[in-house]
Amino acid sequence: VNDWTEVGALTEALKDQKVLIRGRAQTIRAVGKNMAFIVVREKGFTVQCVATVQPEIVSRQMVKYVAALNRESIIDIEGIVSVPGVAIKGASQQVEVQVRKLYCISKAAVLPINIEDAARSDAEIEKANQAGEQLVRVNQDTRLNFRVLDLRTPANQGIFRIQSQVGTIFRQFLLSEGFFEIHSPKLIAGSSEGGASVFKLDYKGQPACLAQSPQLHKQMAICGDFGRIFEIGPVFRAEDSYTHRHLCEFTGLDIEMEIKWSYFEVMDIVSRLFVTMFDYLNKNCEKELEAVRRQYPFEPLKYLPETLRLTFAEGVQMLKDAGVEVDPMGDLNTEAERKLGQLVLEKYGTEFYILHRYPLAVRPFYTMPCCDNKEYSNSFDVFIRGEEIISGAQRIHVPEFLAERAEARGIEVKTISTYIDSFRYGAPPHGGFGVGLERVVMLFCGLNNIRKTSLFPRDPLRLAP
Ligand code: 4AD
Repeated sequence: VNDWTEVGALTEALKDQKVLIRGRAQTIRAVGKNMAFIVVREKGFTVQCVATVQPEIVSRQMVKYVAALNRESIIDIEGIVSVPGVAIKGASQQVEVQVRKLYCISKAAVLPINIEDAARSDAEIEKANQAGEQLVRVNQDTRLNFRVLDLRTPANQGIFRIQSQVGTIFRQFLLSEGFFEIHSPKLIAGSSEGGASVFKLDYKGQPACLAQSPQLHKQMAICGDFGRIFEIGPVFRAEDSYTHRHLCEFTGLDIEMEIKWSYFEVMDIVSRLFVTMFDYLNKNCEKELEAVRRQYPFEPLKYLPETLRLTFAEGVQMLKDAGVEVDPMGDLNTEAERKLGQLVLEKYGTEFYILHRYPLAVRPFYTMPCCDNKEYSNSFDVFIRGEEIISGAQRIHVPEFLAERAEARGIEVKTISTYIDSFRYGAPPHGGFGVGLERVVMLFCGLNNIRKTSLFPRDPLRLAP
């Protein structure tokens, strides 16, 4: 046979036919000297293959060779599809392949972690251990050290396919709304968000930074008459935060757009984009979500067709009414954000909402103050399950005022002079937002750690693999 059949396509319709498959030897089990079973996995589907000694076809030596294969080796099998009378446990396909020929394409070394162990839910481990088994829980650091193996679990296969969909929907939705995609530089002269979380480097003798966001350049693109733009790209933060939700490198989904009247136009995009995204994921990624849920159980996200918007002052009042004291002109800490998330869920039945009109003092220098009260700003954050996924705002488009605000925040204006100068030749009112891709996937799937949704996470303690 020259044609390949995918494991997922092996059905009764192929009974008695000769097929050629490639996959990983997930498990290998010898039964005496004349028979060996191999479960072959390809793209999440599994099929049981049987090598039985048969004169002229399968030798005893070959069965011995099969039985000695290492788990996770990549093998090709040529065989005949058969339909056993009983249900097959431990394989997704309800047919077997009677092995005629087997080639090992890539031999796996002995595994440092067992993938079946890495794929177990906490509940499963607990239950089995109560029943006297001794199952191992693979801890996060070990998983990340052997990430290539960890990625093979069904939950991880689901997580990164969902992540791919989030990016795809973000892109498709914005394209359909008249946005287009840009690619801004990641090597820049000054910091883009201010503060200490910036990776500094030497750029041929000149001090430089890794971009903390595409903020400055996406605004400059607006000054270049690009109207409505978006970017999907890496964002670097020299975080000193050892938390479940901070990475030193993450993928930013950013937009920037001209606005006519107010930052509400930007919040409209947030609302429609994310409702479209959640609807799509729920409808089209059932299999992936189920794979994640099996290992990390979670409830589907509750959201409204029209995204709830509360002002920061309303949020502070809700917290106050619930006995939580917060500074009405300060930022909310993680705990207060979580608490507000709970209160919003109880009162409005949604775990996805927008909080806007933040105190100006807690927002970046480029944020536009409210015209009716300069203590507040035309800005917003967006939350899923009580945690921030987006921050956005209307930006200052008046160069003198922008320079004044930067200086007031202790930013050396000369390091961002080309940015400020971009507004000197006529700049339209504009606004935008930035989303963290890993956070969206983490919170949509109710996961407890952002490292689970980063392919090869970079945090203050990890630069490899
Ligand atoms: O809130 P941030 O810092 O806002 C900006 O970068 C602005 N330039 C955005 C704008 O257009 N106004 O970051 C935006 C989002 C956060 O809401 C969060 O989802 C994510 O980026 N994020 C991080 N994700 C992982 N690790 C980190 N260290 C993150 N810091 C921010």
